[in-house]
Amino acid sequence: MCGIVGYVGPREASPILLKGLQRLEYRGYDSAGITVLNGVARTLKCKGKVQSLVRMVQEASPKGSLGIGHTRWATHGEPNDVNAHPQASSDGRFTLVHNGIIENYASLKAELLAKNVHFESQTDTEVIAHWICEVMRSTGKSFREALPQALGQLTGTFGLAIVHDDYPDRIFIARRGSPLLIGVGEGEHFVASDPSPVVEYTNKVVYLDDDEIAEVWADGYSVTNMKSVVLDKEVHELVLSLEQIEKKGYPHFMLKEIVEQPESVADCLRGRLKQDPAKITLGGIEGSMDKLLKARRLIIAACGTSWHAGLVGEYLFEHLARVPVEVEYASEFRYKDPLINDQDVLLVISQSGETADTLAALRLAKERGAYVIGICNVVGSTIARETDAGVYTHAGPEIGVASTKAFTAQVTVLTMMALRLGRQKGAISDADFDVLTRELSLIPEKIRQITEHQSHIKEIAQLFSYAPNFLYLGRSYNYPVALEGALKLKEISYLHAEGYPAAEMKHGPIALIDQYMPVIVIAATSHTNDKMISNIQEVKARKGRIIAIAPNANQEVAGLAEFFIPIPETEDALSPLLTVIPLQLLSYFVAVNRGNNVDQPRNLAKSVTVE
Ligand code: M6R
Repeated sequence: MCGIVGYVGPREASPILLKGLQRLEYRGYDSAGITVLNGVARTLKCKGKVQSLVRMVQEASPKGSLGIGHTRWATHGEPNDVNAHPQASSDGRFTLVHNGIIENYASLKAELLAKNVHFESQTDTEVIAHWICEVMRSTGKSFREALPQALGQLTGTFGLAIVHDDYPDRIFIARRGSPLLIGVGEGEHFVASDPSPVVEYTNKVVYLDDDEIAEVWADGYSVTNMKSVVLDKEVHELVLSLEQIEKKGYPHFMLKEIVEQPESVADCLRGRLKQDPAKITLGGIEGSMDKLLKARRLIIAACGTSWHAGLVGEYLFEHLARVPVEVEYASEFRYKDPLINDQDVLLVISQSGETADTLAALRLAKERGAYVIGICNVVGSTIARETDAGVYTHAGPEIGVASTKAFTAQVTVLTMMALRLGRQKGAISDADFDVLTRELSLIPEKIRQITEHQSHIKEIAQLFSYAPNFLYLGRSYNYPVALEGALKLKEISYLHAEGYPAAEMKHGPIALIDQYMPVIVIAATSHTNDKMISNIQEVKARKGRIIAIAPNANQEVAGLAEFFIPIPETEDALSPLLTVIPLQLLSYFVAVNRGNNVDQPRNLAKSVTVE
């Protein structure tokens, strides 16, 4: 949520800042701005996408080899020029950019207003700038000395980058709850809220932890805690490449990410799934098997698409490993005073590894003694670092705001975990284990077969692009896929869609069905096939428009559906890895037909680092 970039070195800062902001734009695109320092600070900012800022900067061509930039996802204050970051301090000596939310901004602002401090914007960010000035004024401290004290009085979350006229060779950064890293170059350094703007220049990064402040200059950096004690920070090597974060000729990141799922699932399986004899090894949690075996229950906490993956995980763990599972929205879990202790294992799932609610659930569970395992995509992310153990999904960077390849990679990891645990517990027979692992190894190729036949899905999308409502029905393993399909359509097409367990339809949603209602039926679990056919008949009887997704050979479903999207045969437990693909493509083509910005849908941001 919001993106921060900073540069200090021998080159002109503004082109580096603008390119960095374009790479970060998936994190927010309500407004953008930069400050470049060249003796004096020059700030340029405007409402809207980074492209508007690019035009502004081209005209103004600010000079300077040190600067900070920001792309905003609005929380406090509407998206407009004034609320865009950087925000200037009341003494006019520094500007700052901010990710996160200051929860006590109202009381701090009231205090500042009582002292006649003038506010330009409605942002909580401006409060931080003026508050630092107030601490300097009231204590007589320099900016550098006042910074930890002022930040210590903030509640909420922040990732901050600050440039100050009195320190013309350096950028100050600070973190609590909102990710920040330093990119370490040769004679130049970078600052960013995630690695994407940095990877082009260096693969060495230092991650800031909570309540740390850093000063970054051309030849180095120093990191301290809030008590100004200097810290020795590890330099990490990035596994990200520039190629991975570019579109490679695709019109949208989302389509690229859908189509690359054969590779991303294969990458996720690589080195973990072996055959003859069948074996699964998950390096990150091999040492945690004892905890998993002894756990009273497994609680899965996540948000959005990752929560849907967690629901698939519930079916997998209960069926294949006979482990009781509860799946919680991370945002609900943390506020319900959950009954969790050292007999439970919490499994958190997050693509970004930075989702505020998921991180808070993790911390709460740890406080209460639970062992916490993570499934994350972004290597080195906060969740990945704070969990006791974990498995990376290795899906590669996901830039499209609508999550696609992260979902299939998460489900792949969950499948391997459930099989691994089920095998060790003796909950699954050797024969079933062999069949499932063999089938799992074939999934990448089967996904490819679906993505290669996307023209049929495109035609269906053309017909339904203006339907106001959609219903998605699934059963068993494919009920979470129905939820995921509906979410995909909502977020990029702005169309109303509901996902339901198919049998629940008759308890209410059936009243919605008429000759205008597209009903997407996911009929891919053999043990519920007969029941699903009855559900399809019920929809047909009310003239609903049936679009069915089912295995090739399911002629009965094919015959009943108005539109049939065949998928290759697989085991029931693995079917979500296939059935979700046509749903991703359907939502993509509907959104494109409607002329929507697929990669940057309105009101959304890729990673939700605020509560
Ligand atoms: O990074 P995370 O997996 O923790 O993100 C969770 C949700 O914010 C995310 O899945 C969101 O729902 C996506 N936009 C869905 O496409």
